[in-house]
This record gives sequence, structure tokens and C-alpha cells, in this order.
Amino acid sequence: MKYYKNIKNKSKSICVWGCGYIGLSTLAYFAKKNVRAIGYDVNKKVVNDLKKGKIKNDDFKKWLGFSIKKLIKNNLKFTNNLEVIKKENPEIHFVCIPTEKNGLPLNKILIQTIKSIMKTSSNGLIIIESTLTPGTSDKFLSKLISSNFNFAVAPRRDWFVDNSKTLEHMDRIYGCNTSKIEPEVFKILSIVCKKLHKASNHKVAEMVKSFENAYRHVDIALANQLSVAYPNDNIREVLRLVGTKWNIGTFYPGFGSGGYCIPLSSQYVLRGAKIKKKLSILKNTIEIDKNINLMIAKSIVKEKVKKIAVLGLSYKADLKVSTLSPIIDFCKYLKQKKLKIELFDPYYNNQETKNIVNCNKIKTFPNGLSKYDCVVFAVDHKYFLEKKKQILNSLNCKLFFDNTGFFKQNLNYFKKKGINYKLAGSENWL
Ligand SMILES: NC(=O)c1ccc[n+]([C@@H]2O[C@H](COP(=O)([O-])OP(=O)(O)OC[C@H]3O[C@@H](n4cnc5c(N)ncnc54)[C@H](O)[C@@H]3O)[C@@H](O)[C@H]2O)c1
Repeated sequence: MKYYKNIKNKSKSICVWGCGYIGLSTLAYFAKKNVRAIGYDVNKKVVNDLKKGKIKNDDFKKWLGFSIKKLIKNNLKFTNNLEVIKKENPEIHFVCIPTEKNGLPLNKILIQTIKSIMKTSSNGLIIIESTLTPGTSDKFLSKLISSNFNFAVAPRRDWFVDNSKTLEHMDRIYGCNTSKIEPEVFKILSIVCKKLHKASNHKVAEMVKSFENAYRHVDIALANQLSVAYPNDNIREVLRLVGTKWNIGTFYPGFGSGGYCIPLSSQYVLRGAKIKKKLSILKNTIEIDKNINLMIAKSIVKEKVKKIAVLGLSYKADLKVSTLSPIIDFCKYLKQKKLKIELFDPYYNNQETKNIVNCNKIKTFPNGLSKYDCVVFAVDHKYFLEKKKQILNSLNCKLFFDNTGFFKQNLNYFKKKGINYKLAGSENWL
């Protein structure tokens, strides 16, 4: 096995399947370490932009912190043509394709990708970075991957908002299908990753990713469930104080989880489990997390408001990711109730806002906020922090719903203006 040696002396390149957040970061970091890397993606536009060194996503660019343009001249290539991969003849394949669709785990693209690897290379090593349902490797991959290949599972934990949490600096787990390949996988991943933890096999590594996120999923759902169970108490304050205990994190009630990882984690764990009925905690977690946004919407309908401004569409602050954002179904519900909804998120233009939530973007922000009798502050983007004073000055509503606590210092202001200020998790917020 000369995989490591061959990529270090540049006689061989690595191939990365899928050039999104995960794949492009793998490509960029390895290329930066002077490894020849080729990215394959089915999306022609993604490939054409990347060939020119263009990264469309500003958050990702910021997170990466270095340009890929220079790397393209030396080490980095992109293609959507399998023949190019065949000619390149890479020995190491990183699999970074989507493994979920519409909020549920999906193996179709993974199976397709493994088949493409088998068609384009005769032997080598496959490192799976995509999130897997526990048991996937043994159920599908072992059967599809020929005996000339070995494989490892090395899930990712990067946090694309914070550039201290990258491929280089985050603790990373990996597990291999055979122990003889483990030292080689360690050396390969060590080219980029500083903190590696060996799992005894691929199955363990595969479980770690969905289990760790399921813990967060449960915590987020529990915060909401506690608040629903104690409707007349300030559970937000209680949970803030609970979080001061040395071994407990702080989770607040609110719109619940979104994005690629957390909402799906319990689904992955449940799908892979041998005895699913034993995981009632996760079933409840999915239920409460999926419904809390609708409970918030219902509480707003009760207030008899007519025109609602929603601030924020991303599932998380300072990120342009709306995948499984709880705001989408929240808006859908209110629209069904014939309420007029408009939304402002600095990351999305009018067309994008329309495509995702089927409503218009607020044209004049923040001045235009005076036209709404309800304002829902959903996501605390830094942009909103900068505009806080103007937002407050523009308000002319009877209800202000604060999902994040961003405006809790302004209680007196709301009182003075006669605005009913509701803070997620505080007394009678629903
Ligand atoms: N984004 C995150 O924060 C994150 C974190 C940890 C793990 N993950 C996991 O990593 C995997 C990839 O996620 P991502 O965020 O990079 O997704 P992404 O949507 O940003 O990128 C996926 C890319 O794969 C391409 N693709 C789709 N089908 C393909 C195919 N058949 N062949 C080649 N390319 C194909 C798409 O065009 C897209 O460019 C998923 O399993 C996800 O759960 C994501």
C-alpha cells in the first residue's frame, strides 16, 4: 500500500466526489498541502465556477480563509466528466455527496457514487466523509466495493460559521474496514487534520456522527418540551441557570433545529437501529422539534394580527443555509391562515426569498417595518445587530416575537410603545 507515498510524491492525485461545503473544503485543504486533487460534481455550474476559482458562497469563502485560485494553477482540478477521472486514475477517493433529501436519509447518491468509483478505478482506498445511517457500510458498501479497495469512514464536524472549527483544527474520528489500512489512513488524514481519534472499525466511526448530533437534537427538543410543559414560567431563565452547571450546555426554547445535521441525526440513528422502538426519546425529539415552529405560528394567529414581518430565513445566524429551516414551514402555516407575510434576510434576495418561502422580501428595511402589526425576529444575524437601533425606531406593531433574546434589554422601550413583547421560552410565550 503506497497511497500516502504516492500522493506525497505527487505521482497520484486524490479524487473528491461532490464539491459542496464538505467536498470543496477537503479539496482546498489537501491542495494547499501540495497534494494533487481533482473534484467531481454532477452540477455543471458548480464545476464551471470552481474551474475559474469562483466560490459563490461568501460564508464559505470567509470560513476557508484562503483563495483557491492559486491552487488551481498547481494542484486543483474540477470536472463533471467521469472519463477525466478515469484518465486521472486516482487511488484515494473521498466521498462527500449528499446523503439526505427532504429531511430524510438517502442512500441513492452514495450507491451511485460507489458504482462510479468502481467504474473509473481498478483499486484504491475510499474515505467516506458524508454522514451515514449506522449500518450503511455493511449493508451496501461492502457489497458494492470490490476486494481491490479498502474503505474508511471519517465523518466531518466542521462549523462553517467559525473558522477556528475547520478540517485542520477539529477533533476528527476515523475507522477502517480492516486494521491493516489504519496506519495509511491516519497518515493521509494527518496531512490536513491535527487531531485524529481512531475508532476500532468503520462501523463505530459511522455511528459517532449521528449519535453526537442526536444528543444535541434531544437537548434542543427538551428545552422546548420543558417550556411547553411549564407554560406559565420563565423556562428561558431556568435553562440559562441550569447551563451554569459545569457539565450541562445551555439550550433555549425557540424555533428548534434546522440545517443539514441536527434535524436528521435522530432519523439516521432510528433508521439504523436494530430495535427502533427502544428509541422513544428520539421519536419524541423528532416530533417536538418538527412541531414547535407550528406551535409558535398558532400562538401568533391567536393574537389576531394581520400583517407579519419575519426577520431571518437561515436556520442559523450569519450563514446562508435555509435547508430544513423551521422558518419555512412557519411561514407556510401563516400563509395558509391567510395572513400577509413578508420576510427580510440580508443573505437572500427577493427571488431567493420567493423561491424558498413563497413570499416577498421586505423592500425597505428597516424603515418598512412600520407597516406590520407583528414582527417576528427569528435569526440573530450580525447584520441585524448593526441595525438594532433603526429596527426599534421603525416598529409600529402590536406584537414583537423575539426568538433569540436579542431584544430582551429593550423591554422598557416595548412597554413605552405599547408593544406586546414575547420572548421564546419566557412566561406565556405560546
Ligand atoms: N454542511 C455541513 O455542515 C456538513 C457537516 C457535516 C457533514 N455533512 C455531510 O456531508 C455530506 C455533504 O454535505 P455538503 O454540506 O457538502 O452538501 P452540499 O449540498 O453543500 O454539496 C453536495 C455536492 O454534491 C453534489 N452531488 C450531488 N449528487 C452528486 C453525484 N451523484 N455525484 C457527484 N456529486 C454530486 C452536489 O451537486 C453538491 O455540489 C452530507 O452527507 C452531509 O450530511 C455536512
